[in-house]
Amino acid sequence: MSTTAGSKPAHDWSAAQYLKFEDERTQPARDLLARVPLQAPKTVIDLGCGPGNSTAVLECRYPSAHLVGMDSSPDMIRKAKKALPHREFTVEDLKSYSPQGPVDLFFSNAVFQWLGRDERFTIVKKLMETQPSGGVFALQVPDNLMEPSHVLMRETARNGPWAATLENIGRDTFQTPQEIYDLLKPVSSRVDIFRTSYYHSLENHEAIVEWVKGTGLRPYLDPLSPQETEGFLREYLKRLEKAYPSTCDGRVLLPYPRLFVIAVKK
Ligand SMILES: C[S@@+](CC[C@H](N)C(=O)[O-])C[C@H]1O[C@@H](n2cnc3c(N)ncnc32)[C@H](O)[C@@H]1O
Repeated sequence: MSTTAGSKPAHDWSAAQYLKFEDERTQPARDLLARVPLQAPKTVIDLGCGPGNSTAVLECRYPSAHLVGMDSSPDMIRKAKKALPHREFTVEDLKSYSPQGPVDLFFSNAVFQWLGRDERFTIVKKLMETQPSGGVFALQVPDNLMEPSHVLMRETARNGPWAATLENIGRDTFQTPQEIYDLLKPVSSRVDIFRTSYYHSLENHEAIVEWVKGTGLRPYLDPLSPQETEGFLREYLKRLEKAYPSTCDGRVLLPYPRLFVIAVKK
């Protein structure tokens, strides 16, 4: 079922916060698409299209495709419609989404990590069932739960007056490459999996906080009061300053591993 993009619910994603690092966040979409083995797909769906940055990458390679973006965030869809007014965007949840016709390419950049561990590949396989033979499902997810940025987020959550509130907050670990292969191979003629580590040069440690405020930190900050949020961010920043040394130009290098999966329907 789709809803409108007219209002911003509490705890919705913020397109503006997300787009502070637009180029860095879009590079994996370009790298994923470069490996998609389709020359001229007729229908392409950008699952979790966010503010339309990944949709624009798809449009560049496949200008004549019927290209649709879907996302559960009204704020993201509002922004996507402004960025690409000639394209179709809908507010929908992946958990209940089904396409209206056959889809040659399902593309999803940085979305499936937000679904529960048990839901992710049930959804991928359900969507692949609707695809013609030779159709492609391509997805990319951050593989950074063991990076200091995320370890320290969890450490900060456990140590402070907010510990009880944040007790059960966190993201499910992603399936390993072999688990992914074993889940998708029965329905695919080919499954390509690769991992890339980006090293983002950010202005300072505050920029790491700004980066994760748009994504991984959201579930931790959403339940906190403004005062608790301020305290949490102060403690988190202190930890980041110890974990990430400054580079020779006074900046900070943020290592960012990501996992890519491309399955071709049998
Ligand atoms: C990190 S952003 C990725 C945006 C864009 N694809 C890109 O390449 O930068 C993750 C997006 O997934 C969306 N999302 C998260 N869970 C979703 C769900 N269950 N159904 C649809 N979209 C979802 C969020 O609203 C958000 O816009």
